[in-house]
This record gives sequence, C-alpha cells and structure tokens, in this order.
Amino acid sequence: IALTKGNHRHFMLKEIYEQPIVVAQTLRAYLRRLEGTLALPTEDFDLASVKRVTIVACGTSFYAGLVAKYWFEQFARVPVDIDVASEFRYRAPVLEEGGLALFISQSGETADTLAALRHARAEGQKIAVVVNVPTSTMAREADLLLSTHAGPEIGVASTKAFTCQLAVLAALAANLARAKGRLSPDEERAIVRHLSEAPAALNGALAYDEAIQEMAPIIAAARDVLYLGRGPDYPLAMEGALKLKEISYIHAEGYAAGEMKHGPIALIDENVPIIVIAPSGPLFDKTVSNMQEVQARGGKVVLISDYDGIQAAGDGCVATITMPKVHPLIAPLVYAVPIQLLAYHVAVAKGTDVDQPRNLAKSVTVE
Ligand code: G6P
Repeated sequence: IALTKGNHRHFMLKEIYEQPIVVAQTLRAYLRRLEGTLALPTEDFDLASVKRVTIVACGTSFYAGLVAKYWFEQFARVPVDIDVASEFRYRAPVLEEGGLALFISQSGETADTLAALRHARAEGQKIAVVVNVPTSTMAREADLLLSTHAGPEIGVASTKAFTCQLAVLAALAANLARAKGRLSPDEERAIVRHLSEAPAALNGALAYDEAIQEMAPIIAAARDVLYLGRGPDYPLAMEGALKLKEISYIHAEGYAAGEMKHGPIALIDENVPIIVIAPSGPLFDKTVSNMQEVQARGGKVVLISDYDGIQAAGDGCVATITMPKVHPLIAPLVYAVPIQLLAYHVAVAKGTDVDQPRNLAKSVTVE
C-alpha cells in the first residue's frame, strides 16, 4: 500500500477505505478459510494452561482490548484484567506465574505500553503482542507475535489498525477457547465463517459515507456529544468519542447505555446529540429503552443499526445510519466504520487538520 493519499483528501479517509482489504489481509494470516479452521502461530505456546489474561494498551488500542475482554471471557471463559498502560505498573497488579499478558499497539513503540510489557515479563508473565509494525521493539520482545497487516498508518487518529486489531483478537479469543476445549470443530468453522464475512460487511458499511457526510453538520454544531453502546459496542462508543475528540475537538464521552441513568442523563437537552450504537441482537431492546429515556428528555438521537433495528426503533431519531446485518461477533469491526466516518466528516466540516490534530502525536515515546 503506497504512502500517498491517492484520490483521497486525507490519509485518514484513505485508511478508513482500506479496511476491507487490510482486514482481509490480516484474517488471511490467521484463518484457513476453506478448511474452516484457525491458524495462529501458537504451536510453541501453551495456551491450554493460561488461567488469566492481562491486557494492557493505550488509546484506540486500549479500546480494541476492551472489546477483546468480552470475547476472551465469552468464548474461552478465561478471566481478563485490562488496564491502560500508564496505570498498570503503578497499581501493583497481581500477576500470577504463567499468566498471559497481552499488549496491543499499532506502533509497537508506545513508551507506557513498552514499560508495562517489561514489568509483566519481570513478573513471570508470558508475553503476547498485537502490533502493526513487525520490526518494532514490542514485536522483538514478545514470546508470541501477532501482527496486524494494516500497512503503514499515517493519520494520527487510528482507524484501520483498530479493525485489524479486532480481527486478530477475535481469532486469538477463539484459539484460546479451542485450546481450553471450549470450541467444537463446528463452532470453530462458524467463527471462521463469521470473521470471513467481515471484509464484505466493511465494504457495505462504507457505502453509507455520503449519508454520514450529509448529517455531519448536526454534530459539528454541537459542543458536547454522547456515544452509547452495550456489551462489545460499549468500548466502541468510547472509541467513537475518542475519534471525535481527537480530530474535531468536540467534547465527547462514550458511555455504557445502561449507565446513563446514573449520571450523564443529567446532561441531556436538545443541544447534546447522542450517537447510539445498537446492532440488532440480544442487547438491542435494552439499548433502545435507554435511547428512549434520552429522547423523552429532548435528546437528539442518531441511531446506528441495521435495517431491522432502524425499522423497529428509528422513529423519532434526528438521523439514522443503516449498517449491513452482521453476526454480533463482527459488529464491532463493522460499526467502527460509521463512527470513524462521522468523526472525519465533522472534522472536515470544522476545518481542522484531520491527519495532524493539534497536541497529538502518532506514536508517544515518552511516559
Ligand atoms: C497515540 C495515538 C493514538 C493511539 C495511541 C496508542 O496517542 O495518537 O491514535 O491509539 O497513541 O498508540 P499505539 O501505537 O500503542 O497503538
């Protein structure tokens, strides 16, 4: 992938559009699609004996880790601890001998994450890393290296690295489940099939670019924006808020939809747009009832869901964004696209420097 913007106005937009290809590339490295089996390089790694996973990362990579926590616990039934890297070392984490410590980083150089990795190694943890730069320091210091094949990411706000991290983490969670005897061959085949559907679904999500661009002025006019989601879509809500903060400088928060009533609902009035991430599925009705609480208080809701979800709950929203209907496993990858595009178009509408936002660096090598 060439280091030019091609026909795109910004690297960020180009990188958003590369996602179907780079996610496919990443999945190709970790799945045997035709056989319907996982293919992670874990032969020398005793995954069956892993009793606890400790995930450490910063920024967008941290949110990928939060999504993965749901997957590790759901599929492998292995308890997961997760911290931002700058907190991890200083809270005296309890790390039992032989635990698996997992570090997620686009650059593989973030100082806080690297320091946490070295701390975990000193405490007897096995070290796995998910990085986008296979020659990076973290890659060199890992026992298990899982590369994302996103290609160079230039935009400071991470996009394609995030969805590729999710692809690797889903495969790793399934692999851990298999090692633990919790994944039958049929279930393995089903997971491989669902993951293999991600590139086409990402393409489908990109088809909504223009519609998202049209609604961007609603968000660009706001001072504060809330993002709501449940389950694995809760970290995605936080990632959506981070994207918006980073490049449009609008204050945004991501909240667990069910936690709204314990505080943030006090902020709601007609000036605060609320972005609700709610793919149809087991958590849909609960999220919708939280959404209606917000609407009853005058909140302007933008609902991101699939056709069925929008049919069921789209009335009364100021805008809706229709995603392809996907299996819940890949929803966090697919729904990342509209939140990236929304942040992008809002930033363009505000005239900020999308690829080089103020005060931020692509790779932070100081603690
Ligand atoms: C910086 C970047 C973020 C990134 C974070 C972690 O703050 O601006 O986009 O998510 O670092 O970087 P890493 O390379 O460790 O994923």
